[in-house]
Amino acid sequence: MVEYEKIIDKYGTPSYVYDIDELLKRVNYLKSKLGPKYDLVYAVKANSFIAKELENDISRYEICSPGEFDICNELNIDHQKMVISGVYKDVNTIENMIKNYDDILKYTIESINQYELLDQLTKKYNRKINVLIRLTSGNQFGVCESDVRKIIEKNHNSLIIIDGLEYFSGTQKHSLKLINKEIEHLIEFTDELEKDYDLNIKEIEYGPGLPVFYYQGDEFDEDAFLEEIKNILDKIKNRKVAIEIGRSIAASCGSYLTKVVDMKKNKFGNYVIVDGGINHLVYYGQTMAMKIPHYEILPKSDTKETATYSLCGSLCTTNDFLVKNITTRTLQINDVFIFKNVGAYSSTEGISLFLSRDLPKVILNKGKTTILVRENIKTSELNFPKEVKE
Ligand SMILES: Cc1ncc(COP(=O)(O)O)c(C=O)c1O
Repeated sequence: MVEYEKIIDKYGTPSYVYDIDELLKRVNYLKSKLGPKYDLVYAVKANSFIAKELENDISRYEICSPGEFDICNELNIDHQKMVISGVYKDVNTIENMIKNYDDILKYTIESINQYELLDQLTKKYNRKINVLIRLTSGNQFGVCESDVRKIIEKNHNSLIIIDGLEYFSGTQKHSLKLINKEIEHLIEFTDELEKDYDLNIKEIEYGPGLPVFYYQGDEFDEDAFLEEIKNILDKIKNRKVAIEIGRSIAASCGSYLTKVVDMKKNKFGNYVIVDGGINHLVYYGQTMAMKIPHYEILPKSDTKETATYSLCGSLCTTNDFLVKNITTRTLQINDVFIFKNVGAYSSTEGISLFLSRDLPKVILNKGKTTILVRENIKTSELNFPKEVKE
């Protein structure tokens, strides 16, 4: 149990709290539902602060940028768990990896040019690597089927070992029908590739975009949903399947704490101003702040009086609404809202640099212990025009 009162006293607001007990409970719930046959891959982009905590409970990390690699490397995450992915693989970063690390688990190939780059660098350093070719889902990521074939056809006298395909088709996917269609297509396509080429497609890394239900009234039967997902995945025979997930692993462990700092009523609304804002809090699908996420207000109060408020952040934009028209117990200055399910993407998707407000602290909560893992960061320094000596 996170002791929010103590955290608010010690660290103040706005801040993020990531509850590691909840994180591990969540990842083990997903593993128990999907079964031991499926490896879990954590998409680091969802939240890098919790990446290390998952090390014993997931099989791989999907790393999509030099920055994500630096974070994972500095956290001493095992290279044998790293899949180096990303739509832009710059020469320096990839050269450094191939030259200096012979233990990286895999790379993805997202274009013919990326194939050429990997081919050239592996030859230069005489290094064998394993790869997954990313099949596009109809966007700039990955390659189309004819380019998958071209890459396979090019791959002679090379140090690149093609292990299989990666496929990710989007986040917050609720449609079992769509997931079923994707899996059936992947089965058909990988079977065709094996028939057409002297190639063993050993594995498929698949991102199902498992959904998170963020809003009040949105509850669904997740047990039944995951059982169906497992039935669909079970159709893939004779290939290893790795399930690449971010949101569904990370969301539930996170809370965002923001304090009421001002209140005002006028003919346009009953406004509550908090010390955070949409620069820190992003809920998927929160259009016009009309939906009500799960939240708690501290201190607890016995008052039966309620009122309807619009909750606004501290940015100079009329868009800075966290929630519109929520009916809660009557509020006072210094009350703290604890928004739930913010463990995935929230700390990274906000417009953090706008208005030069500080980035929130980040706190990991483990049992009764709290660890401050990021101090407030002054974005005024990032937005300051300081001449750089050239
Ligand atoms: C390639 C890839 N894999 C996995 C993910 C994680 O998706 P989600 O957070 O919906 O599980 C993303 C998210 O953008 C992605 O781009």
